[in-house]
Amino acid sequence: MPDVPENQTPDLADDTAGSLSSLPTSKVARAARFAKTGLKVGANYVKHYARRSVGAESSTEDLHQANAAELYGALSQMKGSVLKVAQMLAMEKNILPAAYANQFAQAQYQTPPLSGPLVVKVLRDAFGRSPFEVFDEFDLQARQAASIGQVHFARKDDRPLAVKVQYPGVADSIRSDIRLVKPIALRVMGLDEAQVRPYLEEVETRLLEETNYALELRRGTEIGEQCAHLPHLEFARYYPELSSARVLTMDWLSGQHLKEFLQTNPTQEVRNQVGQALWDFYDFQMNTLLKVHADPHPGNFLLRVEAGGTVGVLDFGCVKEIPADVHHLFTALLAPETLTDPARLTELLTKAGVLRADDSAARQQFYVSTMQASLELVGRPFRQPVFDFGDPGYMAALYALGDDLLQQPELRQQREPRGSEHFIYLNRTYVGLYALLTELKAVVRTAGK
Ligand SMILES: Nc1ncnc2c1ncn2[C@@H]1O[C@H](COP(=O)(O)OP(=O)(O)O)[C@@H](O)[C@H]1O
Ligand SMILES: [Mg+2]
Repeated sequence: MPDVPENQTPDLADDTAGSLSSLPTSKVARAARFAKTGLKVGANYVKHYARRSVGAESSTEDLHQANAAELYGALSQMKGSVLKVAQMLAMEKNILPAAYANQFAQAQYQTPPLSGPLVVKVLRDAFGRSPFEVFDEFDLQARQAASIGQVHFARKDDRPLAVKVQYPGVADSIRSDIRLVKPIALRVMGLDEAQVRPYLEEVETRLLEETNYALELRRGTEIGEQCAHLPHLEFARYYPELSSARVLTMDWLSGQHLKEFLQTNPTQEVRNQVGQALWDFYDFQMNTLLKVHADPHPGNFLLRVEAGGTVGVLDFGCVKEIPADVHHLFTALLAPETLTDPARLTELLTKAGVLRADDSAARQQFYVSTMQASLELVGRPFRQPVFDFGDPGYMAALYALGDDLLQQPELRQQREPRGSEHFIYLNRTYVGLYALLTELKAVVRTAGK
């Protein structure tokens, strides 16, 4: 097998065959890209104030739009790491100005695959041996892209295995990207570092954890064992002796991603069973384990029609541990009684940091009524024993709520983000779960345990 010489750092070489033998991690190149963005953003401000000074219409909103597009362009160059931070923050309507939230929400990551020699090198670095010595069979062609790596098929002792191989240097580049971009991005968006710090820290922590495959192995093993009793779920076994911080080996699970699965026209019964398995999985993690697979993205589940519908769960790279008081607060907010009790809701929102003692009465009123509307809708599945996620009216109402929140001047102009940083991943988890269940059009026993 051809191998990469030891002294050739992944920073330097470039490849021609459309696959990566190196990563575009040159700090100089990225810094240059950012300097350019800084200039464009500066130019946008000049245009904005110039138009204003001649009395023409140029809203702060337009300025944000233009800057968001620029910032997005620059962040897109950075292998998704910083963009992912931005995207996470964008999901919280309370944190970023609307223009940025919208732009970042559209983010897509595309990374060319690692070349064969580089894959061999990463495995050699991890095990001291080539993958062909470690495994009985190893396919150098990646089967799937992963966010910061790629997944290969292998076989050992007749067992089909999935080997997730992390891009070399990606953990360091995430760290340096964040350091490089944060001050610029905050300035462009007009956010105060001290105010967004807890949110950024929360997202950065999760993101850096995702680069630690040893941690993913521990969490995947643990949650898989703790959820083993739940019906119609499948978890891969992980193999510590075939894994490292940058290589993760587990059973190969069969099944299809949601989109392909739905194209086979599974029956309502099958979709219900799959949906129920997902609901039970999340319910048990949220309320019993107090830690949750916080990335219910369609790529992280492999679905099968066999046995009436099963769900293979992948990717424990992002796990949110829920502090007991946060769990308590979250549950209380979703409780049916809270909906009809504005005083209780006010108390809970204050605890959650959404309301402050020094807020004006009008502002308090705004948050309470906005949250009441949100909780009425989002909490609906919890208030009845069985819920039909296939109800098109429900999805439409959820989307309308999202749009409505984005239009609220109070939230649009808000300069100081609000609410507990722990809610970022909890909200994301429910948003993801609801999206899966509505796509499945599943009827699920929700509250009825
Ligand atoms: N154990 C597995 N069996 C079969 N396919 C897998 C397995 N693990 C990962 N994959 C495939 O690789 C893709 C990316 O893996 P994932 O662990 O989700 O990476 P990432 O952490 O980057 O999101 C999955 O969507 C799936 O298609
Ligand atoms: Mg994944």
